Amino acid sequence: MNKKVLMIMLIAAAQSLAQKFEGLALTPPMGWNTWNNFACNVDEALIRGAADAMVASGMRDAGYRYIVIDDCWHGTRDSLGFIHPDPVRFPSGMKALADYIHLKGLKFGIYSDAGWKTCGGRPGSRGHEYQDAMQYAAWEVDYLKYDWCNTEGLNAEGAYMTMREALRAAGRPIVFSLCEWGNNKPWLWAKDIGHLWRTTGDIAALFDGFVDHGTWKSWGVLMILDMQEGLRVYAGPDHWNDPDMMEVGNGMTESEDRAHFSMWCMLAAPLMAGNDLAKMTEKTRRILTNREVIAVDQDPLGIQGFKQHVRDSVETWFKPLSSGEWAVCFLNRSKKEAAISWDWAANPVSDDHSGRSIRFDAEKFKLWDLWTGKKAATTKKPFRTKIASHDVRMLRLTPEK
Ligand code: GLA
Repeated sequence: MNKKVLMIMLIAAAQSLAQKFEGLALTPPMGWNTWNNFACNVDEALIRGAADAMVASGMRDAGYRYIVIDDCWHGTRDSLGFIHPDPVRFPSGMKALADYIHLKGLKFGIYSDAGWKTCGGRPGSRGHEYQDAMQYAAWEVDYLKYDWCNTEGLNAEGAYMTMREALRAAGRPIVFSLCEWGNNKPWLWAKDIGHLWRTTGDIAALFDGFVDHGTWKSWGVLMILDMQEGLRVYAGPDHWNDPDMMEVGNGMTESEDRAHFSMWCMLAAPLMAGNDLAKMTEKTRRILTNREVIAVDQDPLGIQGFKQHVRDSVETWFKPLSSGEWAVCFLNRSKKEAAISWDWAANPVSDDHSGRSIRFDAEKFKLWDLWTGKKAATTKKPFRTKIASHDVRMLRLTPEK
């Protein structure tokens, strides 16, 4: 082989190492994560029960795949530095748990941290990135959420790149979820590093307002939504803005859960349920498995929606969908019911980011109400309806020939 060919091969090999596993998240990842409801109370029975419930509830068939164990699954590192799960909480080991999850047609996710310790004080991956990636691959992990606690002095882009390269070297395709809270604007640099990146600090199970924990705050649904301003241009297939895992079923009202879920779908957000799947109510189950609404999130174009209009406390959001369709969501942020009359013809839409526009005076669309499942007239007449406090009306617009 001549030198030139060898050089080209070496460069190609180095480049393929320096890339994330592509194509693992062409639509926003869907699954379940332990943190929002269980925090550090995780063990293998809980995880197996969640996998069972994901299947029995119809969530798997609606598209949910990943069962992710967040913080606190860890035991200690052995004398060689390899991490092991907590032997009391996970006596059968992670490979057995992965097998259980895989046999159900689901995928297995795990959590670590770029720093010395996780947020929950368990061993972090700092200095053990390649070893941890090898261990996860051996356990047949499919998804890694990688947190940002205890990283003082580290460069975020570099730290996440190191783990990307470690995963790549370990050889198993693993979705890489960056959890850096938006501190270093990951939307500017993480596209080739991970498949999704958190844009904010932690969500809380409340609709409006925030929770003050003293040294940090967690944010209600509306505050997280407002923090997404300006970020939609950075997201797309295989690289998503992540406004955090869902709080559906964790104590908000049914309206609030519906609005939260709808808005996450308008944002093309990863849909990671965060409730107790084994004990969820039928109302929660129906929200999480509404296929029409999920289809808006999972639309193959992967274009994040945008706020088109605000009047009083009602926001009107649009999301371009494939085949010339659109999703529209009216969000009532107020504590009171709102009556709306939306005159399509008077409100043309033009979206620079997607290059899509609608002139309702020249085009006609059928309207489908995605929460009632009914046809709701066409765009030839103003759309008049009442929206309960903290609720939505969500429509799919289908061009009428
Ligand atoms: C951080 C993350 C959360 C969760 C906890 C675990 O706060 O943002 O999503 O992973 O750590 O300790």
